[in-house]
Amino acid sequence: MEKLLIKGGKSLSGQIDCSGAKNSALPVIAASILSSDDITLKNLPYLQDITTMFELIGSMGADISLDEKMNFKLNTSNLSNLEARYELVKTMRASILVLGSMVAKYGYAKIALPGGCAIGSRPVNYHLKALEKLGAEISLNNGYIEAKAKKLTGANIEFEGVTVTGTENLMMAASLAEGLTILTNVAKEPEISDLADFLNSMGAKISGAGTDEIRIKGVEELTGTTFKIPADRIEAGTYLVAAAITNGKITINKIDPKRMGSIIETLQRAGAEVNLNGNSIYLDMTKNVIKPVDIVTAPFPGFPTDMQAQFTVLNCIGPGESSVTETIFENRFMHVQELNRMGTDITINGTTALINGVDSISGAQVMATDLRASASLILAGLIAKGETIVDRIYHIDRGYERIEEKLSNLGAEIIRLPN
Ligand code: EPU
Repeated sequence: MEKLLIKGGKSLSGQIDCSGAKNSALPVIAASILSSDDITLKNLPYLQDITTMFELIGSMGADISLDEKMNFKLNTSNLSNLEARYELVKTMRASILVLGSMVAKYGYAKIALPGGCAIGSRPVNYHLKALEKLGAEISLNNGYIEAKAKKLTGANIEFEGVTVTGTENLMMAASLAEGLTILTNVAKEPEISDLADFLNSMGAKISGAGTDEIRIKGVEELTGTTFKIPADRIEAGTYLVAAAITNGKITINKIDPKRMGSIIETLQRAGAEVNLNGNSIYLDMTKNVIKPVDIVTAPFPGFPTDMQAQFTVLNCIGPGESSVTETIFENRFMHVQELNRMGTDITINGTTALINGVDSISGAQVMATDLRASASLILAGLIAKGETIVDRIYHIDRGYERIEEKLSNLGAEIIRLPN
């Protein structure tokens, strides 16, 4: 397995471009199943999860090609195999995103039930209950979800709990349902609005994305479109934290700051000087000292669970005590044991990590357990004394495009070690 070797102690400086957002691209690719025509996708990030999603729709019979400008062309108008096999779903839970589109367009879907993963049990009951309200007949057999419907019908659906991919699945399904669907207690993440923009560009009639209530007027057919995947706010946030903890000064380009929600304000609370200029975010931490910040994760616009592990590292090197409370996933502290091996002082108490700042941490060989945990270990490596080797970096390749290249461009000493 490949590893990353980091020599800590370099202050980051310079500029990088933000890549397309993984969590926007995945539902958009799944939503392409609804189209009867060609879809062109620009700015797709080069990530393992995107490859897996292509493998999934490819296994169903989608045509996928790359044009001379590196844009992807998809045609899903003739899928012949309406099944998402366990071998693929077990490598990427987001495979569940094809459920809504398949049942709406083809009247049938058979999808392996995603199991739990390193960060929690992650059931999909909200997705299934909501699809049943649109008239889908759902059964669970031999580890597979089977969904059938002649024609879905619009309904008023209040989600039991806020779910990002659940909201997305329902937006896709309701786009081809008969009549009006009103979704409440929905997720409000920017990726929800991205999906609405994509579906509307195909002829869907969706309003309210980004608010508490999404209204979807079903249409008969969705057409082809060309769509540019917006920038990844979590990628941007991760590099901003990297600059803050190394007392650096960086600019991230090609990111709309409005997508960043509470991340920027939290960085400012932590002592960073942050300036916004059009589609660029500038962070300067050369003059200030890190102030640990108490954090409680919450659905957007609250503090994102996908930035929790990275800010935990930031808190570890600021003076004094702080707490990080995880409210979205029940087991998202796997990075803590590894960080403590590098000399941090973190104690887990239920859903809260209690952190005592330390003067310095030291390099070690550490193991990545999930995507954002891997990011936090790399961040720790950037500030550790000596060398850090991060093992199992396939997790990082699922969600960060060319991370070692981008960090090297900012002055970090980081290389990929081959198998
Ligand atoms: N939940 C249920 N039942 C459901 C659905 C969700 O109990 O039917 C629970 C989950 O177990 C969790 C909470 O509700 O405790 C929220 O889960 P949600 O469904 O919102 O998560 P998701 O849609 O599976 C997406 C992102 C995650 C991100 C979360 C939260 C994608 C592909 N994934 O997951 O991204 O952490 O929303 O914002 O959009 C990542 O990129 O590293 C990542 C894990």
